[in-house]
Amino acid sequence: MKSKILAKLKEKDSYVSGQELCEALGISRTAVWKIISKLREEGYIIDAVRNKGYKILEAPDIITKSEIESLINSSYSVVYEDETDSTNNKAKLLAEKGASDKTIIIADSQTAGKGRKGKSFESKKGQGIFMSILLRPGISPTKASMITILAAAAVRCGIYNATGLECNIKWPNDIIYDGKKLCGILTEMNTEMEYINYVIAGIGINVSNEVFDKELSKVATSLKIITGKEYKRSNIIAAVTECFDKYYEEFLKVEDLSFIRADYEPYLINIGRRVKIIGVKESYEAVAIGIDNDGELIVERNGKMEKVISGEVSVRGVYGYV
Ligand code: BTN
Repeated sequence: MKSKILAKLKEKDSYVSGQELCEALGISRTAVWKIISKLREEGYIIDAVRNKGYKILEAPDIITKSEIESLINSSYSVVYEDETDSTNNKAKLLAEKGASDKTIIIADSQTAGKGRKGKSFESKKGQGIFMSILLRPGISPTKASMITILAAAAVRCGIYNATGLECNIKWPNDIIYDGKKLCGILTEMNTEMEYINYVIAGIGINVSNEVFDKELSKVATSLKIITGKEYKRSNIIAAVTECFDKYYEEFLKVEDLSFIRADYEPYLINIGRRVKIIGVKESYEAVAIGIDNDGELIVERNGKMEKVISGEVSVRGVYGYV
């Protein structure tokens, strides 16, 4: 109910009458009043004027279940935790208990945020977006890793729609700005030979971090550092989810990434650059050309085109991170 009231209040710039809220939600005036009081306790500044109704004057930077639900497509279920070890871990637990496709787990802080290759991901309270999207796509397990490319395109698109900032993508799924990482994505999955149990796309966006530890500051950045502005994380989460949903639905229809290339390749920082491909068996240098319809990186190596498969290698710029 809280999210429905919030959504109604956000729909208009003007006052929404108590009567309208009661009718739209099928609840009493007292019930509406109680919900308004709860929202005020959470930090929303809501004006109430006799004969006019209610209007949100100021919304805090909170990412609670009702705040997020008031902004996103109702096909997504939202789970919110003030603190968790890792939203990916929480998503796994929920998946094992039967949580459905399109469940989003969001936390205000993580005590053990996970990065790729066993690294940790800085997850301080209120400073970032820590979200995991749990999916149960009815596709072949061989295609599951494509979701990581979808997630990267969605984060780029969502950040642009919510903030106007044009970021780049470092293949396969880092979102970067000015050569530093703004967002990392960790995709984990549980599959059988024939089918996918679930895929978890874990997204960590640095939003209001003002400084990073010495080593991290060489490679990491945040929206605050880039623009000097404060952002409402809920708007960014909603914008990323909207872009993700558009891409995911299309992906389920065509089961390849042909359609995403137009929203991915123009932003791919690696294109035309010399990159170092670091694999388990060998490392080599090549020039990045683009991605194919499976999301694999195409590189030119000694005059020949080759494919680099994500998960097996890491790609670095010859002179540094990009
Ligand atoms: C990376 O760049 O190494 C990936 C970082 C992924 C971080 C996100 S934050 C939300 C989700 N939960 C985690 O524990 N990790 C991902």
